[in-house]
Order: sequence, then structure tokens, then C-alpha cells
Amino acid sequence: MADIAVFGGSGMIGSRIVDEALHRGHTVTALARDRTRLPHEDERLRVADADVLDPSAVTAAARGRDVLVSAVGGGDGSGHRRLVEPSARTIVAALRDLREPPRFIMVGGAGSLETVPGKQVWDTPGLPEDVLETMHAHGDALEFLRGVTDLDWTNLSPPAVIEPGERTGGYRTDTDRLVADGRGNSRISAEDYAVALVDEIESPRHRNERFTVGD
Ligand SMILES: NC(=O)c1ccc[n+]([C@@H]2O[C@H](COP(=O)([O-])OP(=O)(O)OC[C@H]3O[C@@H](n4cnc5c(N)ncnc54)[C@H](OP(=O)(O)O)[C@@H]3O)[C@@H](O)[C@H]2O)c1
Repeated sequence: MADIAVFGGSGMIGSRIVDEALHRGHTVTALARDRTRLPHEDERLRVADADVLDPSAVTAAARGRDVLVSAVGGGDGSGHRRLVEPSARTIVAALRDLREPPRFIMVGGAGSLETVPGKQVWDTPGLPEDVLETMHAHGDALEFLRGVTDLDWTNLSPPAVIEPGERTGGYRTDTDRLVADGRGNSRISAEDYAVALVDEIESPRHRNERFTVGD
């Protein structure tokens, strides 16, 4: 069983990762700035308030863990711009300070996924500026991670749509191409996304690369 810390543990995606990991018997520390929004109902769950942009808080959260997951979100586009890539940089710097750094798994974004050869989701005409800013914030974080060769990291991009729903336990994966059905629908429940992420923790298949999922 793994000892897992989850930044963004109170969020739409992060809370499902916490639930899925607990359900599989792992030990989890859920982290966010507002401790009151974190779950606290399991003997294998610890909760703590910590800011992912605070290097010493990240070091403390990561020390002794097997895996550090970041599922932080910044609300609008400019919030993501201030949070997503900076948090990846803060986490990487903190992990480099540890003698035995945990594996780092980051919840990414769909914007940089390929739709057809040579076109990415963020090339779709008509996307609002705010959405583009969020997509590029995640794209910048992924570019940064791709330059990190001394740590064990994975970026898991959601498909176009991810929302609370049913846990079926089934999903399809790809590396850099958007997973969609024949009609172009690209979606997953946050519960099944969490299944895929915890599967990756238990059976690593995507070390130092990005992968994506869809139903
Ligand atoms: N299709 C897609 O590509 C797609 C779709 C949905 C989401 N996403 C991405 O997935 C990530 C998670 O999304 P979500 O919808 O689950 O977000 P969410 O529900 O808004 O939750 C965000 C979480 O991040 C935490 N957080 C924010 N700033 C923090 C900080 N400085 N330090 C520590 N924790 C912080 C929040 O708690 P506190 O505010 O209490 O700190 C909360 O737990 C986001 O980056 C989002 O862009 C991608």
C-alpha cells in the first residue's frame, strides 16, 4: 500500500482521487489551503492545510510519502496562470531537496492534446480567452515537466469534459491524442478519472510522460 499526499484534496477531481485511493487501502494525506473543506472520515486519511506555492509546506507534505499528487485548480484563467505552472515548479524544487523524493503525479489539462494530426484542442476556433488561458497554463506546466529528467513524474490530462458521475472502473487511454468517441465526444466521470490515476500509482505505465483518458 502507498502513502499518498494529494494537493487539491477538496476539489472536484482531487476529492475523488482521495476517495479512490482510500477505497483501495492506501494511506492518504489530503491538502488544501482551506482545511474545513477537506474530508475527514477515514482512519487512513489525514488532512492538513498547506499552500502548494509555499516551498516549505510542499517539502513537509512530500517528505516520507511514496506519491505526491497535485490536483490544484485556480478558478478562472488568470488564477490558473498564477497557480498551475508555478505549482509544478515549486513541487519539483521541493522534491529535489529530498533524499528520497516521492513520485509526482499532476492533474493536467486537455488543451495541449492532439485532435487531428498537427492540431491541438486549443487550436479549436472560437474558444473563449479565459479557457485558452487555463489551457495554456497547463500546457506550460507540461512543457516544464518534460524538461525534468531527475525525478519520477507523470501528467494525466483529463479529456475535454470531466464532471462528477458514475464510477464504472472502465476507461481508455492515449498519450498525446484526445480520447473521443466516433462523434467527437470526449468525456469521463471524475470517479473514473480517479480510477485511472490510482491505477497508474499502483502499476506505473507512464513514467516521465503525459497520458490521457476518456470513457
Ligand atoms: N478538461 C480539462 O482539461 C479539465 C477539466 C477540469 C479540470 N481540469 C484541471 O484539473 C485541476 C483540478 O480541477 P478541479 O475542477 O478539481 O478544481 P477545483 O474543484 O476548483 O479544486 C481546486 C483545488 O485546488 C486547491 N487549491 C487551489 N489553490 C491552492 C493552493 N495555492 N495551494 C493548495 N491547494 C490549492 C483548492 O483548495 P483551496 O482553495 O482550499 O486551497 C481545491 O482543493 C485544475 O488544474 C483544472 O484546470 C482540467
